[in-house]
Amino acid sequence: MTKKTYYITTPIYYPSANLHIGNTYTTVAADAIARFKRLIGYDVMFLVGTDEHGQKIQTIAEEKGVTPKAYVDEIVAGIQNLWEMMDISYDKFIRTTDDYHKKAVQKLFKQLYDQGDIYKGSYEGWYCTPCESFWTETQAVDGKCPDCGRPVEKAKEEAYFFKMSKYADRLIAYIESHPEFIQPESRKNEMLNNFLRPGLQDLCVSRTTFNWGIPVEFDPGHVIYVWVDALSNYITALGYNGEDTSLYEKFWPADVHLIGKDILRFHTIYWPIMLMALELPLPKQVFGHGWLLVDGGVRMAKSRGNVVDPVVLVNHFGVDAVRYYLLHEIPFGSDGIFTSEIFIKKTNSDLANDLGNLLSRTVTMIEKYFDGVIPVPKDIADVDNELIEIALAAPGKVEKAIDELKIPEALDHVWALIRRTNKYIDETTPWILGKDDSQKGRLGTVLYNLAESLRMTSVLISAFLPTTSGKINAQLNVDKITWDSLSSFNGTSAGTKVNKGEVMFPRIDVEAKIEELNKLVEETRKAAQKPTMEPVKEEITIEDFEKIDMRVVKVLECLPMKKSKKLLKLKVDLGGEIRQVVSGIAQNYKPEDLIGKYVVLVANLKPVTLRGELSQGMIIAAATPDDSKLFAVSIPGELPTGSTVR
Ligand code: ME8
Ligand code: MG
Repeated sequence: MTKKTYYITTPIYYPSANLHIGNTYTTVAADAIARFKRLIGYDVMFLVGTDEHGQKIQTIAEEKGVTPKAYVDEIVAGIQNLWEMMDISYDKFIRTTDDYHKKAVQKLFKQLYDQGDIYKGSYEGWYCTPCESFWTETQAVDGKCPDCGRPVEKAKEEAYFFKMSKYADRLIAYIESHPEFIQPESRKNEMLNNFLRPGLQDLCVSRTTFNWGIPVEFDPGHVIYVWVDALSNYITALGYNGEDTSLYEKFWPADVHLIGKDILRFHTIYWPIMLMALELPLPKQVFGHGWLLVDGGVRMAKSRGNVVDPVVLVNHFGVDAVRYYLLHEIPFGSDGIFTSEIFIKKTNSDLANDLGNLLSRTVTMIEKYFDGVIPVPKDIADVDNELIEIALAAPGKVEKAIDELKIPEALDHVWALIRRTNKYIDETTPWILGKDDSQKGRLGTVLYNLAESLRMTSVLISAFLPTTSGKINAQLNVDKITWDSLSSFNGTSAGTKVNKGEVMFPRIDVEAKIEELNKLVEETRKAAQKPTMEPVKEEITIEDFEKIDMRVVKVLECLPMKKSKKLLKLKVDLGGEIRQVVSGIAQNYKPEDLIGKYVVLVANLKPVTLRGELSQGMIIAAATPDDSKLFAVSIPGELPTGSTVR
């Protein structure tokens, strides 16, 4: 019999350094679902990846002086390491810079063009000539460029467009007749009422102002603009439009695209319309989860500088503490909050106390009373049956919860068994039975039941907390875990020798740890904001220093530089001689801030050409290593230009 297939995807991430725990949420949740489906017997395809094209990446790479590919290669390697650290069991990692993806996207773009769904038109917006950037009505506040502050003007750029409106009615009908397509339910109405019913605008799908993207084959000045490139990954990863399409045939349509709610519109409107135009089946479900917020209810986001680094948490508390928090504490589908306090309290109560203690007490008692050998169960009492019933009911409940993508509920069902098992210890008081030789048989039954309950727990949590499951197996000497073994309460082999191991979740001094973690979190935040001091350079002599000729100059003119957020072009007066200088201080200065100021120029620096402009000298500025904060050294009073600075 061929196995049933299951195809689950995460969004492909923008390559940015240091993903925060909010970013890891989608991937950890998808991993738990993928692992669970494998456990219950599905043939699973779990796809992750990176979304590597676009203006932003090109600009960052240029500013770092590396190629965009070299820049993304390094970041992607970091993301892959993070997934390894988080125990992400992906089957495939797609990069939109992969050759097969680029070819497949070019092919489908051409098909859509040939059949008339993509047409050439012009993109109208507010244009800033010096910056060569288009801005929308809302971005260009008061008719000014948000980057340089200069006035923008209406302009047109040649671009390709996708006829979204052509398919809108078909999509509305589809969504209405497939209530499971957009989940959670509440998000479905938002898509219908806010976007689809008011009418769709055609989507701009190419750009000519940058080139870090997939070229439009039949019109070389254009690159395919990011969403067509990005969304196609879900089928190109399976070989669609490629040489071997067997995975595509096996796994498409996807069972679920798991994404954050911020990108729901792209996945439930643009993507289905692209698929309709290509005459391909739509994914069975798009699930938009909520955001991880920080204390105070604001979204965790790199741009807000309020991020928590998953690596810090994993190093201190282990990967499963982090996975447990993400999977259990965030109501699936809604927003959830991360605070050090809740994180530590939950790790302590649910993992260290409920589960960790249960295992360590059980193994300790088997060692103490039965020389470490799991005893044979004998007489079954009512209290045993109560435990057994709960244990046998758990797998069905967990499976149903995961079917509905209710991950926290699935874990609640497992913890109901764990807590019932702890209660069973209190009820059966094995430490009292152990004092009475005539109770040896009863004691054996109790300890067997504890071991068996833990074995079942280990199978049940294996998709969510794989490392912890492995540790339980090692201590109970269980070598294989199967879902089928949960159908009866006798999967533990009496006679097996247990191995007491390390404490799984060391007890946490809650107050002290909260303080420690708060400090760590604060440090990561500060490290992101405040770079450390650069080491002092090698010693030089006064003669060396005197070679540097610094002079007071007056800024006469100042202009932003094309396509750069960092550079300004200045004309300065050096004792009557006019010099042009390109200076990387645009992050902190608008041109008008500098005009008329007296600043310091390294006047004998060999001239260079920067972005096509001659730079005759260098303006002295105090700066952080990443230039995020920067002040040009200026002269408080007026001095004749050309005065020396020593
Ligand atoms: O959007 N809480 O990539 P991305 C929970 N490249 N999830 C969060 C979050 C938070 N605080 N912040 C971000 C993209 N995320 C596109 C996707 S798919 C064809 C292209 C989630 O790197 C966010 O919702 O900006 C998204 O699911 C994922 O992180 C990647 O975001
Ligand atoms: Mg985003």
